[in-house]
Amino acid sequence: MIEIYDVSFYYPNKNIALKNINLRINSKEFVGILGENGAGKTTLAKCMNGLLRPQSGKILIDGEDISKYSVAQLSKKIGFVFQNSDHQIFAQSVEEEVKFGLKNFNFTKEEIHKRTEEILKNLNLFQYRNTIPFDLSGGEKKRVALASVLCLNPDILILDEPTIGQDSQQKKYLINLIDDLRDQGKTIIIITHDIEFASEYIPRIIVMGNGRIIADGPSNIITNNEFILERTNLILPQLSVLTKILKSSDKFKDFNGDQTDILNYYNELRRYI
Ligand SMILES: Nc1ncnc2c1ncn2[C@@H]1O[C@H](COP(=O)(O)OP(=O)(O)O)[C@@H](O)[C@H]1O
Ligand SMILES: [Mg+2]
Repeated sequence: MIEIYDVSFYYPNKNIALKNINLRINSKEFVGILGENGAGKTTLAKCMNGLLRPQSGKILIDGEDISKYSVAQLSKKIGFVFQNSDHQIFAQSVEEEVKFGLKNFNFTKEEIHKRTEEILKNLNLFQYRNTIPFDLSGGEKKRVALASVLCLNPDILILDEPTIGQDSQQKKYLINLIDDLRDQGKTIIIITHDIEFASEYIPRIIVMGNGRIIADGPSNIITNNEFILERTNLILPQLSVLTKILKSSDKFKDFNGDQTDILNYYNELRRYI
């Protein structure tokens, strides 16, 4: 469980990025953090894993104040996959990239070998084990970054904008992977702009704007709330737009806003367009 109490953070240039954040994420939860550019999403994530240390407030993971732990110690508990893989990857081969974190923790040679092989196979990267990561595609690099985090088997995983630059096939792959990780009992936090993705797959959504949390609740409620989305400049998912059109049209008086029924209405609506 992550508990955040009154956390504020400002950058050295006095940019205030987080203002009095209070938040609780239970273990095994799957949560999305949404919000426009500059809202403070990445800063919040970096405070959770110790890369940034807030000037006020405190953060507890499983009841323990994280300020007494180093980033390396925290990385075993909470994994963070950067938005830009180039900021994360530095080794000369995919295999070395994954092994790096493991070597830091005094695992035995056999254990390192076993975990590396397993994770590379799992993430469909085994054939690239000797490749220089920078030669890979954007999506593959993201998987390498993910592998280097997952091999430490952290309880909590934060993915910063994982769907950017991924085609629909890769998104499906990501969703399967998240399902597997959830089955293993992990807590998953996804930072995203991708409101379609969030509304479809993530049960709880936290919306940030201007360094604050401006909404927190079940995704179907949040992503249908125009007031919230307008305040954050996020674009309504297509399904919500369609719901709105149906509700405002005389021709579809019977429509009660139930989105499970929406395909029938969609087909009918097409006749008028
Ligand atoms: N390294 C930095 N130095 C100074 N200001 C920063 C830095 N990184 C982010 N900021 C500022 O902090 C605020 C929050 O940024 P960020 O956490 O990156 O938002 P998001 O991830 O939601 O786009 C923004 O105003 C941004 O300009
Ligand atoms: Mg960001």
